[in-house]
Amino acid sequence: MSKKRIFSGVQPTNNIHIGNYFGAIKNWVDVQDQFDCIFSVVDLHAITVYQKPEDLRQNILKIAKTYLALGINPKKCLIFQQSDVKEHAELCWILNSIAKMGELERMTQYKDKSASHPENINVGLFDYPVLMAADILLYNTQAVPVGEDQKQHLELARDLAIRFNSLYGETFIVPEPMIKKEGCRIMGLDNPYKKMSKSAPSSYNYISLLDSPEEAKKKIMKAVTDSGSEIKFDTEKPALCNLLTIYSQLSGEIISNIVEKYTGRGYGDFKKDLSELVANFLVDFQKKFNAISDEEVQELLVKGAKKARKIAEKKMEEVKEKIGIKI
Ligand code: AMP
Ligand code: TRP
Repeated sequence: MSKKRIFSGVQPTNNIHIGNYFGAIKNWVDVQDQFDCIFSVVDLHAITVYQKPEDLRQNILKIAKTYLALGINPKKCLIFQQSDVKEHAELCWILNSIAKMGELERMTQYKDKSASHPENINVGLFDYPVLMAADILLYNTQAVPVGEDQKQHLELARDLAIRFNSLYGETFIVPEPMIKKEGCRIMGLDNPYKKMSKSAPSSYNYISLLDSPEEAKKKIMKAVTDSGSEIKFDTEKPALCNLLTIYSQLSGEIISNIVEKYTGRGYGDFKKDLSELVANFLVDFQKKFNAISDEEVQELLVKGAKKARKIAEKKMEEVKEKIGIKI
């Protein structure tokens, strides 16, 4: 029996943080043997917020290296750069014709990003979820491993697949979300009520995978904590819950065990141990990351694009036939 196909991607913007890792990429690594995996570097999504061209070029390579250094095996998974396959933009246009303004206006990420970039509320930012639907539907994707914040976009991809199928006949697989329970929403270290974000104004919000281990330790020690000093997993202690989740994701220990280990000890001890865990993780990651050359990833992306194009071209032929533009 053939394996189920999964598709996911990360934007090459700023630096990847531990939230991206726990919410998305760690999940990809864990399931790569079980599924037929396609992972993209979604550069066309990234430009919906202005990127300096020289930074973007670097960030595309950095994300691809990050996938590898975190444990994605390129022999098992297809890795490619979104803009190398023109069918993404092409299918996006076709899906635009069945997507409704109202459903896009409701998207939380669009509302958040327009609020934080009022000077650049561009059409691409609005259309972002339709391009994401095209990414997914082009590859007959059955499941999409992402963090919690992408759930709404996935629902749109499902709705568009269903709508297209009912208008033009069975064409797209309706993809299932694959969102883990734990680690799917890592909160900011400086504000446990908002998700950790690469574009947060303060770097004390996140731990980037490329932060120096010393810097990262400092960030953990400075992370806000809740009142009281007892270590427990309690929704009334959102800052501590977040740190416990990070601890659990890094150590593989279940949260109740960690709580037990620190019973009777204060936040200080806990944070110190957590900062060591984070630092060790970063040292190991960065060693692998630095050992990968630009040439190596470039070559991998060229090969990946070739394979991705084959699948995407075939799907586009089918779509064109179905909607009546192939004579
Ligand atoms: P992005 O950086 O927006 O391209 O996100 C890449 C992946 O990381 C997506 O699957 C997101 O859902 C996930 N992600 C982003 N921020 C977080 C967070 N704070 N906690 C968990 N997952 C996240
Ligand atoms: N929108 C996703 C994010 O911000 C990235 C993305 C683009 C994606 N296309 C995708 C994720 C397709 C999964 C599948 O995280």
